[in-house]
Amino acid sequence: MSDGLELLQTLGAPLPSDLDLEDEILRLKRSRNAVILAHYYQDGEIQDLADFVGDSLQLAQAALGTDADVILFAGVHFMAETAKIVNPGKIVLLPDLEAGCSLSDQCPPDRFRAFLAAHPDHKVVSYINCSAAVKAQSDIICTSSNAVEIVSLFAPEVPLIFAPDRNLGAYVQKQTGREMVLWPGACQVHETFSERKLVGLKVQYPDALVLAHPECEPHVLRHADHIGSTTAILQFAITRPESRFIVVTEAGILHQMKKAAPEKTFIPAPPEANCACNECPHMKRNTLAKVYLALRDLSPRIELDVELREAALRPLKRMLSKDLNAA
Ligand code: 13P
Ligand code: SF4
Repeated sequence: MSDGLELLQTLGAPLPSDLDLEDEILRLKRSRNAVILAHYYQDGEIQDLADFVGDSLQLAQAALGTDADVILFAGVHFMAETAKIVNPGKIVLLPDLEAGCSLSDQCPPDRFRAFLAAHPDHKVVSYINCSAAVKAQSDIICTSSNAVEIVSLFAPEVPLIFAPDRNLGAYVQKQTGREMVLWPGACQVHETFSERKLVGLKVQYPDALVLAHPECEPHVLRHADHIGSTTAILQFAITRPESRFIVVTEAGILHQMKKAAPEKTFIPAPPEANCACNECPHMKRNTLAKVYLALRDLSPRIELDVELREAALRPLKRMLSKDLNAA
């Protein structure tokens, strides 16, 4: 749907055709004392308006550190929810409340509770891509950039559950040599990459390095020269002397790669089907028009029940302090 049609449906009337969305967003940002935090998977035009663009961990840290009154989170629901958990006194806006996450959706809190009950002696490490209700049942949270470090905080004899991403869990198991009980979730975007087409690209461009996100499946990851969070693979691409990279994660990250190293070539890894499945449909629900409307109307907001917020904060604090005993 075009932005114009989308606005007609949202508002009942179109925005003036001469409205400069970029200018208006910058004006509202100042007048609301708002900060825009954006994930790398957002459209480039949203990233370019953001005060900070980063990976999940950096965005959680930026949310904690901001002195703005309003946080507009250009990302998906669990990310904005995390910003609210660490910032209960601030207004946290998500341009489209329906911007979810397939991984998070695959771990319903009730089923998770039953799963934990079946493993009563286990400690629980949850990837930040989960709901507040799942976080609240976890001992500690991790992101793709610190998962190995967080799991390594536990003594080797402590039995662990890792949820909800079985691919990140398998990657951590390989890095640490430690068995964990894995919740069987996966990201619809990162499971779409074709090993066959990736190998074809490597044959076509033998000089290219392969950069992959650990949410990819093990048979894809085994072809990677570097595995890391979005920030980690961006930094690797910028700092390495090589000039060609095959990028196996959501295609939005290419925006910052091309900006930082315009002389280099970045090739998005293809999905198996002839589709745009290497774009996260949830992330892409946010548009410039919705960012404008959210700042104008201070809505839609993330709201959380106090008890749930406090329970979800505890494992987040442990991650941020890297202290398993943080209360
Ligand atoms: P990052 O931890 O690299 O930000 O990844 C988040 C994510 O949702 C990947 O799909
Ligand atoms: Fe969730 Fe996958 Fe989208 Fe990341 S790319 S937000 S894990 S659906």
